[in-house]
Amino acid sequence: MQKPIDLTNRLALLRIQEDTKGSVEIFRPYLWEHLPLVIDRFYRHLMSFPEGRQIIGGEHHLPRLKDAQEKHWKRLFSCEFDHAYAESAMTIGRAHLRAGVAPYLYIAGYSFFTCELVRIASDAFSGDLQLTSILTSIQKVISLDMDLALSVYTRELWRAKLAGGH
Ligand code: HEM
Repeated sequence: MQKPIDLTNRLALLRIQEDTKGSVEIFRPYLWEHLPLVIDRFYRHLMSFPEGRQIIGGEHHLPRLKDAQEKHWKRLFSCEFDHAYAESAMTIGRAHLRAGVAPYLYIAGYSFFTCELVRIASDAFSGDLQLTSILTSIQKVISLDMDLALSVYTRELWRAKLAGGH
């Protein structure tokens, strides 16, 4: 049995606090508006690489994947960082491990979204004093999700090692 993730500790490490949630709240309407297009662009980018096409396994999977992505980003940016969110992020990490998404691809995906969100926020809040806190909050929140998803990879590795008696 693995130790559950200590979410309070993760939030403290990433310096996610009430003011972070406040900054995300200001950005949220812009994200909601642009998210479908960002997701479209993400899959177009991914499908332009052989490893992306191979793992996705055909255009007919895209509607379901796009829908799952949208739900997930909306959940993350709702900033309800409770046990249910952490479980969902880790379940998604497990699905990617099973699907053979290597960390370099997964990280490229998170980077794609981070860059797009930074662009949207910078356009919307250009010259606004709140811009810096919005950008740092986006970075923190995405880092939490990436941490939870990718930690699954190392946790599975450690579990396999323990089961093997090494
Ligand atoms: C920004 C990073 C990413 C996020 C937030 C994300 C999000 C998601 C979500 C929410 C699901 C649904 C999981 C479920 O049904 O439990 C999913 C499934 C999937 N994703 Fe991603 N994804 C990301 C990057 C990638 C990348 C880079 C690939 C590479 C090809 C990929 C390939 C897949 C595949 C193949 C599935 C289906 C897994 C299954 O059916 O078990 N994803 N993704």
